[in-house]
Amino acid sequence: MAKIGIGILGGGGILGAHAPSYQKVSRLCQVVAVAEPDTSRHERIRQLLGPQVQLYQDYREVIALEAVAAVDIVLPHYLHLPATVAAARAGKPVLVEKVMGRNVYECDRMIEACAKAGVSLTVCHDRRYDSQWMALKEVVDSGVLGEIFYWKLEHNQNVVFPPESWVRSRDGLGGGAVMSCLTHQIDALRWYGGEFESVTCMTRVIPERMEGETIGVIAARMQSGALANLSINWFTRSHRAGPDALWYEVVQVCGRQGEAYFMSGRGTFVLLHEPADRRAVRKYGAEALERFVRVPAGTWGGHERCIGEWVKSLGGKRAQLLTDGREVRGTVEVAEAAYRSAESGRTVKLPIKPRPWRNSSKSKLGPAQPKQSALADYVVGAGGRS
Ligand SMILES: NC(=O)c1ccc[n+]([C@@H]2O[C@H](COP(=O)([O-])OP(=O)(O)OC[C@H]3O[C@@H](n4cnc5c(N)ncnc54)[C@H](O)[C@@H]3O)[C@@H](O)[C@H]2O)c1
Repeated sequence: MAKIGIGILGGGGILGAHAPSYQKVSRLCQVVAVAEPDTSRHERIRQLLGPQVQLYQDYREVIALEAVAAVDIVLPHYLHLPATVAAARAGKPVLVEKVMGRNVYECDRMIEACAKAGVSLTVCHDRRYDSQWMALKEVVDSGVLGEIFYWKLEHNQNVVFPPESWVRSRDGLGGGAVMSCLTHQIDALRWYGGEFESVTCMTRVIPERMEGETIGVIAARMQSGALANLSINWFTRSHRAGPDALWYEVVQVCGRQGEAYFMSGRGTFVLLHEPADRRAVRKYGAEALERFVRVPAGTWGGHERCIGEWVKSLGGKRAQLLTDGREVRGTVEVAEAAYRSAESGRTVKLPIKPRPWRNSSKSKLGPAQPKQSALADYVVGAGGRS
């Protein structure tokens, strides 16, 4: 059977996670071309994907190739919408890196374009496919924790980009750290604990780092009644500070009958409260009543699994895809609601009414998205839920 031809749009940092993932399913697919205007990155791309890979300057050239049956979008966030619309118009299924779009309005345009063209739209939210994060999901879904009262999710990094980087631009990123990366935590929480009811958010801009916020905290009430505490700090070195360092990411869940957590670098653990669910004691051992015990987990990474499943789905095989565009739009909606809360100083209830992205007057990014006339085919009704 002929291999599925993949085109990758963008050849920057995250290609380092995508390229080996395609190699693991190389019996089914081949990356035939990459679009990357920065020629200083071409040597690395050849090293990652092999000397046969064809290199182009712009994503539109790769979408147009006949040998490309599907595209993987690893572009700056402000290009996710126009690249998805262009791929859909060419009839090519799309895998797009998180964050899906800069706001929920852009997500809706992406969903409409793909639906109209009859092609699939999958978002690479890798945490949902990671073996350790999946182990925590299994604990939560088994019900052994009882009624869940509280969630805590954190993301810690030291993020410094050069002055010309799109990441420094609010228009490039779709805001700041919350939209860019706290969406990992928001997406995971929606997967673990259901939909958000309301959010209250505060953000802190550190202007020498970037236009958008570097630090953000969200207090949320979930539809289940649980409370959640989510935070991102892009101004900390705590997770890389020697043997007593703190964590990069943590997810903690606390229920009436037990608790569990995932911590990066450590694993996934469960603790049972007395009186405990008997099935849980049999499963995790009586010691789980005294201390956190490790939950068995696989060893695969999220990108590897997500890309593997996506490629299987392209080949018409049964695949476990968890992150269709229609599902993931809700993650962007929560982040956008958090921004509206931070701006207004009020709690914001979900759902929110989508609004088009407006580039700031000082934006240096040029026309980031297709003109409204070019998008008109894909705009239905008032643009989504009110
Ligand atoms: N899942 C994760 O943990 C994770 C981590 C990092 C990045 N990401 C995501 O991956 C995506 C890319 O991020 P990155 O860190 O690789 O960024 P990056 O800036 O390193 O790479 C983006 C590349 O796109 C190229 N590009 C710009 N305009 C282009 C055009 N018109 N045609 C073709 N290429 C063009 C740039 O030259 C750049 O090399 C983003 O959505 C980001 O959020 C995800």
